[in-house]
Amino acid sequence: MSSLQSAEKRYITDAWQQAQKSYPLKSPIDGTVIAEVADCGPQEAIEAAAAGWRAFEGWKGTTAFERSEILMAWHDLITGHAEELAKTMTLEMGKPIKEARTEISYAAGFVKWYAEEAKRVYGDVFPSHLPQKRLMAIKQPVGPVFAITPWNFPAAMVTRKAGPALAAGCSFILKPAEQTPLSALYLADLWRQAGGPEGTLQVLPTRDPVPLSDTLLADPQIRKLTFTGSTEVGRLLYKKASETVKKISLELGGHAPFLIFDDADLDLAVREVVACKYRNAGQTCVCTNRIYVHSSVLEAFTDRYIRATEALRVGDPLRDDTDIGPLVDEQGLTKVQQHIQDAVAKGASLKTGGRSLEGLYFEPTVLTDITSEMKIMQEETFGPVAPIIAFDDEAEVIGKANDTQYGLAAYLYTNDLSRAFRVSEALEYGIVGVNDGVPAVPYAPFGGVKQSGLGREGGPWGIEEYLEIKYLSMTMPR
Ligand code: SIN
Repeated sequence: MSSLQSAEKRYITDAWQQAQKSYPLKSPIDGTVIAEVADCGPQEAIEAAAAGWRAFEGWKGTTAFERSEILMAWHDLITGHAEELAKTMTLEMGKPIKEARTEISYAAGFVKWYAEEAKRVYGDVFPSHLPQKRLMAIKQPVGPVFAITPWNFPAAMVTRKAGPALAAGCSFILKPAEQTPLSALYLADLWRQAGGPEGTLQVLPTRDPVPLSDTLLADPQIRKLTFTGSTEVGRLLYKKASETVKKISLELGGHAPFLIFDDADLDLAVREVVACKYRNAGQTCVCTNRIYVHSSVLEAFTDRYIRATEALRVGDPLRDDTDIGPLVDEQGLTKVQQHIQDAVAKGASLKTGGRSLEGLYFEPTVLTDITSEMKIMQEETFGPVAPIIAFDDEAEVIGKANDTQYGLAAYLYTNDLSRAFRVSEALEYGIVGVNDGVPAVPYAPFGGVKQSGLGREGGPWGIEEYLEIKYLSMTMPR
């Protein structure tokens, strides 16, 4: 099966179901329709919740060793289909094929990690003050999970959630982003091929997320919500999930500062900022949005950074040598244009780029002479635009870096070990990359503080989000 063949269907219980309605899926590469995708609504959500509950009743009773084997088989199938999955992803959201391949390996990494981690869900035995008592804390799966995933990582954000949920013994209902249902459907098909029981992983694509999501959020059978997306939508979901007091994980927006100190190796710093800023055409929650450079190295850094930006190849994402593909949709493109217009109108200097190319393609752009009133300094741009700001003093730049509602990722570049620790500890962020522009790996904790989210994904921390603790207090008969 290829993902495109499955596109006219939705995934539910043990079979591909034909949906009542469908919508055309357009590729951002050139606007052509690449699939007709199921458009699920409240009725499908009700059926999915019931199927998810039935599946949970069986799945929670399997051993961690059985779940681990199925997850490992899923991992092997994902890596075996890596090229087709990568191509599907590039077609549906425009990520350059070389980055799509990296994402598939990242996505498979979560599945492998949680195949192993399933067997390490330990409890505790702890002392009592009464001699006849024995006390224990055991961990159990939280129940059916509702997951909402974004378009910018159509595979890795699915496995970063489904991997630990399934390993813990939860069933999993997924609403993928409207723009990227094909990768999710493909992954679900591979899950079934791996031996995943019916109803354990369901995918419900929709063009109109609210009615479907509202149905699942109101359903008490759904015990957990996990969401990756904007802070704005996260707040709404948080409120709705509170009605049935669901366990919740939110991975929300960011506005990542990148601090380059005067002792930094500038060539390396330029490479790291380019990798961080232009990854996925600037469309990740952890892409830097503000590049603070010490004024003594400002000119040298900016010159090299502009040259590195101009060397990037923008174009067809299916080509192996493309660095920057199209933006995902018109809305994304408009936001990038507006941020640049607003900055230039308020006095920013456009150093390179700044133009829309054909379709959804946009030139990577560097701006200087930035001030804090500019939109680009407050909102996530989610595009290939790099604002560079000078600073003179460590305390001043830490203050500026922290002066935001967001707290997902921050970066600093320095060769001074004391400063590396001091600044990392002072930054109010969930992730700090020290001389590292792309720190995320499947076995590390990913998540934000402040309005960037709740909870952590990845590593041993990630599976805890899908577990409940049960206290067993036992009195021994005399
Ligand atoms: C994200 O943008 O939310 C994910 C980025 C990553 O996992 O590196």
